[in-house]
Amino acid sequence: MVLCRELILPLLQLFFVASCYGSPINKCSGKSCSDKPPVVLIPGDLGNQLEAKLDKPSVVHYICYKKTNDYFTLWLNLELLVPVAIDCWIDNMRLIYNRTTRSTEAPPGVYVRVPGFGQTYPLEYLDPSKRSVGMYFVTIVQALVDWGYTRDDDVRGAPYDWRKAPNENKPYFLALQKMIEEMAEKAGRPVVLIAHSMGNMYTLYFLNQQPQAWKDRYIKAFISLGPPWAGVAKTLRVMASGDNNRIPVISSLKIRSQQRTAVSTTWLLPYANTWPANKVLVSTPNANYTLQDYKRFFTDIGFEVGWDMRQDTEPLVSALEPPGVTLHCLYGSGVPTPESFQYSTFPDSDPVVEFGDGDGTVNLLSATACRRWAGQQPHPVHVQELPGNEHVAMLLNFTTVAYIKNVLFSP
Ligand SMILES: *[C@@H]1O[C@H](CO)[C@@H](O)[C@H](O)[C@H]1NC(C)=O
Ligand SMILES: *[C@@H]1O[C@H](CO)[C@@H](O)[C@H](O)[C@H]1NC(C)=O
Ligand SMILES: *[C@@H]1O[C@H](CO)[C@@H](O)[C@H](O)[C@H]1NC(C)=O
Repeated sequence: MVLCRELILPLLQLFFVASCYGSPINKCSGKSCSDKPPVVLIPGDLGNQLEAKLDKPSVVHYICYKKTNDYFTLWLNLELLVPVAIDCWIDNMRLIYNRTTRSTEAPPGVYVRVPGFGQTYPLEYLDPSKRSVGMYFVTIVQALVDWGYTRDDDVRGAPYDWRKAPNENKPYFLALQKMIEEMAEKAGRPVVLIAHSMGNMYTLYFLNQQPQAWKDRYIKAFISLGPPWAGVAKTLRVMASGDNNRIPVISSLKIRSQQRTAVSTTWLLPYANTWPANKVLVSTPNANYTLQDYKRFFTDIGFEVGWDMRQDTEPLVSALEPPGVTLHCLYGSGVPTPESFQYSTFPDSDPVVEFGDGDGTVNLLSATACRRWAGQQPHPVHVQELPGNEHVAMLLNFTTVAYIKNVLFSP
């Protein structure tokens, strides 16, 4: 529940044998030959629709549905986020961590699915009724269509269950690989990946798993928008006291119970690969917490499995291995961004927030961690600051869209 507060604010198979890898696809066979690279969009935390179906043994309130005949929209569905109804929503959205299997599952009788893999609709608008509060990739997709792209054909979405980290989304990466291969084959050209926010961590993890020859063959470039490479400070507040994203009708403490169970939040805690080890991220009358103190932090907030979750997910991309493809790293700056939190009552009250530079969500030092890759891979690393751009608003900005066009239509 971290990375896109503004969205709700105003209210494997391989098709080719290994010997075919190593050179980019460039042979156009017949009519299907395309003059532009296919595009795959990878959204961030909260960044695509989720659906649920219910057949629950019990509910938390008499107004909650116990059983539904079909799947309904669980995210984003503003009707479910109003007082009382939100209790039902929290009970359906939460995950239960099993310390034996070191994985999460939905509560009994709750079935959550990700609609529309391979299509753009689940990430163009988060709210299927296309309300403006849920506008997400729509501006970028519409621009692509204006330049001659076709939705769900040569521009496609790769939505996933963003409550989880990559360790619990293995089938997703196989589906993503297969889709990229199919699109590249059809177009006779390698693909451009465009990711936002946590989607960049997902994409980095994916690329780190692929052989270099596969990347050279199938990926033209990776356009990274608002990347939290080294985690974001805001997650500490989410874990400690919850974050109602300044929606007054929602109690932070109430939504905390759901927010804590999303493993991806612990995955996004600040990393020692970039943040100063002695920086106090949270201070309370009894303790100061740096990134070396997460175990104690989780104990003190009364959420000990958070430490297990962190241990499960920390190694996934903490080495910050270069992606091994041409990278365009675009990030907003100049927007006050939470950097540390002071609690007078811990953890059950809202903290005093200290701000630093960033895009309002991602701290500048985390977004700019991509700079180190310039000397670590043969492929170019382009770093582009977008002054004044807020984390989500950056997707709607003409400057971003023009940058993307330039990457797509340059040789
Ligand atoms: C955790 O998973 C194990 C192995 O599948 C299972 O036996 C156990 O009942 C689960 N624990 C809980 C609390 O669900
Ligand atoms: C936390 O750090 C501050 C500043 O270094 C220090 O003044 C304070 O005593 C520390 N608090 C605790 C509880 O250790
Ligand atoms: C779009 O981004 C540019 C470059 O950072 C910035 O100067 C401009 O103010 C932004 N426009 C809007 C509407 O945010």
